[in-house]
Amino acid sequence: MAIKVKAVRGMRDLLPQKKAVFRFVEDQVRSIVSQYGYLEVGLPVIESTQLFSRLVGEGTDIVEKEMYTFADRNGDSLTLRPEGTAGLVRLANENGLIFNQVQRFWYAGPMFRYERPQKGRYRQFDQIGVECLGMDGPDIDAEILLMSARIWEALGIEDNVTLELNSLGDVSSRQRYQVALIGYLNDYRSELDEDSLRRLSSNPLRILDSKVPDTQRLLAGAPELPEFLDEDSRQHFGRLCEILDQAGLQYRINPRIVRGLDYYNRTVFEWVTDTLGSQGTVCGGGRYDGLVEQLGGKPASSVGFAMGLDRLVLMVEESRPKAGSVDIYMVSVGNQERTKALVLAERIRRELGLITLVHAGSGRLKAQMKKADMSGARAALIIGEQELACDQVTVRLLRVEGSQERVKEEQLVDYLRGIFDRE
Ligand code: HAM
Repeated sequence: MAIKVKAVRGMRDLLPQKKAVFRFVEDQVRSIVSQYGYLEVGLPVIESTQLFSRLVGEGTDIVEKEMYTFADRNGDSLTLRPEGTAGLVRLANENGLIFNQVQRFWYAGPMFRYERPQKGRYRQFDQIGVECLGMDGPDIDAEILLMSARIWEALGIEDNVTLELNSLGDVSSRQRYQVALIGYLNDYRSELDEDSLRRLSSNPLRILDSKVPDTQRLLAGAPELPEFLDEDSRQHFGRLCEILDQAGLQYRINPRIVRGLDYYNRTVFEWVTDTLGSQGTVCGGGRYDGLVEQLGGKPASSVGFAMGLDRLVLMVEESRPKAGSVDIYMVSVGNQERTKALVLAERIRRELGLITLVHAGSGRLKAQMKKADMSGARAALIIGEQELACDQVTVRLLRVEGSQERVKEEQLVDYLRGIFDRE
């Protein structure tokens, strides 16, 4: 008997239309980050479990309950990467790319977290991350923020995302703040939700992220992190804000942003949108000046971010529903006409780079025109008996009422260039 095997919950198939939008987003990001001199690296999907438990942090949700961890045939504990920063720092350290150097890297690929799937949240999802190693000034923080803003522009979603910024200070300012926060919340233990009560001892700062309305209400009266910042961090943050102001990048300071991973200090930020429901963070990052040292390397101040491709794709699809669709559909009736269509399509792709579909199989003219329309193409190129006889092609603009013209074959490429360049 045949068995029915379905995709694993939270692991999605990406069908061609969706995949085309992923490709579009990735291409835009790739082209912009390379303008800033970032170099791509490839990271393994599987790492030693302790890389994440130590660097992302034992008390974090990711390590506590979201990792795909297994013993391999050797009995070694391995984990499907839940994020890229820990692996990137390992890669840089292991390959001697840190000491006395500055590096700008980026990476792309799938990450894995055992979360409850919903729109914009999956168990396998794609990230593109950028990481700058060996730079401690606020100017590099500003650079990556300006770069991310350029990416939103290239994707056409700049009006739907907002930058939220905060500074976590150094380890001691965070500890002082933590003591104050615990002191405050201890007085309200009976009013705290279950998750926050647990976090009060494991990871108190994460309570600030709570979505529970009663907890939110309690937090309104809680001490705020900026009051506890050390002087150097305060200056770093002030200078960052100055640069962003001068560059004209808008942001909102949100003292509640602490991020869900343990390695951050000083600058942290999130790009958020209200167009995706509850999974509204499309990109998050910040400084992690202590991470390299934690892996046994010489200290190297670092900063980076990762964007969630799945979420960006949802946004791009809404603002640009036809991304990745067809430019030209070739219609032809008869064998010789079909051959001509194939040859012309080759020329159009090579010389104009347009997405050109040649009608496959048989079909009367009317049926082919219907297919052409359904493909979303802007133009149908029709080659019938008459056209073939006089080396011409009929160009019909499918999105403009009654627009049709016979064009000489040798003028076709220029004619199409005129049409497609106008957009
Ligand atoms: P993160 O905030 O855990 O940071 O993830 C970054 C982004 O990945 C999120 O803002 C979100 O867009 C996307 N994301 C996370 N989980 C899911 C999920 N289950 N489904 C879909 N998308 C998701 C990091 O991973 C850090 N490594 C970022 C970083 C780089 N910090 C410094 N450098």
